[in-house]
Formats: sequence, C-alpha cells, structure tokens
Amino acid sequence: MTINLYALPGNEARAERIAQALQRRGHDARIAACAVHRFPDSESLLRLDPPAPDTESVLVCTLDHADARTMPLLMAATTLRELGARRVGLVAPYLAYMRQDARFAPGQAISARIYAQLLSAHCDWLLTVDPHLHRIHDLNEIYTLRAHALHAAPLLAEWITRNVSQPLIVGPDGESAQWAEDVAQRIGAPVLVLEKTRLGDSAVRVSVPDLARWPGHTPVLIDDVISSGRTLIAALEHLRVLRTPPPVCVAVHGLCVGDALPGILAAGAARVVCSNSVAHDATPIDLTELLADGIVTMLAAP
Ligand code: R5P
Repeated sequence: MTINLYALPGNEARAERIAQALQRRGHDARIAACAVHRFPDSESLLRLDPPAPDTESVLVCTLDHADARTMPLLMAATTLRELGARRVGLVAPYLAYMRQDARFAPGQAISARIYAQLLSAHCDWLLTVDPHLHRIHDLNEIYTLRAHALHAAPLLAEWITRNVSQPLIVGPDGESAQWAEDVAQRIGAPVLVLEKTRLGDSAVRVSVPDLARWPGHTPVLIDDVISSGRTLIAALEHLRVLRTPPPVCVAVHGLCVGDALPGILAAGAARVVCSNSVAHDATPIDLTELLADGIVTMLAAP
C-alpha cells in the first residue's frame, strides 16, 4: 500500500525524513505535492496531488502557530476526502491548544475541545507527541477521530544520559511532573517538582527549590512546552542564586516565541534542548523514528 505524505508549509523536511524512515521499514512512502499559495490579502489557495485509489493519505503538519496553519490543513483534509481518499491521517508532532483545557474564567472558550472537534470533523486519525494532557487525561476524551499520543520521554532521557553527568531533574511546575518524573525514573536520577503561579502571559512565579540533598548535581529543568520561556526563566533565577552548576533546560516542544531562547540562556541555562516537533535552533532530539513507528501502527488499523 502506498503512503502519500502531504507536507503542509514548513513541514517539507519533516515529511521527507518521515518518508525515508518509512521506506527503511519497507513501506512505499512518497512525498505528494501539497502547495499553498498565499494571496496578498493573506487568504490561501491549496492544490495537492489527488490521491490514487487504495493509497493512504497522511498530512504532516506540526501545529505551532496554529491559527495560520489550521486553515490550509483543513482545506487539505477536505480536498483529499472530496477527491476520494480512503482515509486521511494527520501527523502533528506538536498539537495546539491543549493547555486551554478548562474554562478558567467565566466566558472563556475551552480551546482544547473546540480544536478537537474541528480536527475530528476533517481527519480520520491523529498522531501527535506528548500533548499537554492535564485536566483532560486522554486525547480520546475530546477527539472523536482515532487519536494516539506518542511519548518523547525515552528520547529525552537518552539525551540527558549522554550529555549530563549527575543530573537532578527539576520540573518547574506541577503540570511538568509527569514528564520530569518519567525521565528521572528512566535514568535513575533524583527529581524535584516546583510550584508555579502564572500572573500573566509573561509573568510567572516559581517556588524556591530546596537542593540541599543534591550538592554538585546539575539541575536539568524539564517541561513539555517552552512558549514565552518565562516558566524556565523564573526557575533559573532561583538556581542562579543557589549557585548550582549551570542548569540544562530540556523540553519536548520548543515553541520559543520572541526572546524566549536568549532569555533562558541569559538567565543562566548552559543549554536549551528540545525535540524537533517545532523547527528552531535548539532541536537535537529527533522524533522521526518515533513518528514513523507511530504511522505504521495507525495505518495497521482497519
Ligand atoms: C504549562 O503548564 C506548560 O507545561 C508550560 O510550563 C508552559 O506552557 C510554559 O510556558 P512559558 O514558556 O510561556 O512559561
């Protein structure tokens, strides 16, 4: 069965790596054309290779900058269905809007649910990596398509083992505990989870870590998402006062908006390391093989 990978803009290299990984597994995986023209008024026109009968159609579209990416994605999914695709899958290494998983103030939208309904109406399956599951415990609570979440913790743990001696894993907030504890357990390192109060988009307060039990350990701050970087910066500021060895920051998804990366380094981080779920400079943790295995599993289902 041929697997046609349709790369939405910005995902071309990712789709190519996935296609090669699928070919190494013996699959007939190909890149199919998917071109998005932006008109001067910023509306889009999409054109793609019509799916041949009995091929699998897989859209590759990570969902940082989700508002701009979603419209072409929905057009691609709808067009594939109109042109006869037997089913349309979506590989979105970063899945947007998962952090707004409740109505935190009267009148707020529960974005995670709305976005889930939207994608579910247009695609048949979704493969992603470490979505921000907190108050929602499983993607299938909100997605009606077949959704599967892969986990990057083994890859994060592997990178830390190879690159940091005597690590002390630090989760900067309760929501990061699931990643911090998982990674710590895999590498047999101690773990500490701090408490965070968010005061605004770029204002965060984090509790002071008590490091007395682990002198000389290198703090490795682990979070699922770096957005403004303010969570990590607040934790790093405490560590700087405590004069620890230069901390390392590791995250699954490096959205890293604005001055996040330079800000984290200026706050004392020796390195910032993320997976390549989102393209930027700090991405040595490669998700390609994980995603390829995930696609094979999704396509094996009837
Ligand atoms: C939320 O709880 C997430 O796990 C991250 O801690 C958060 O998204 C990081 O955001 P920022 O980089 O803007 O502080």
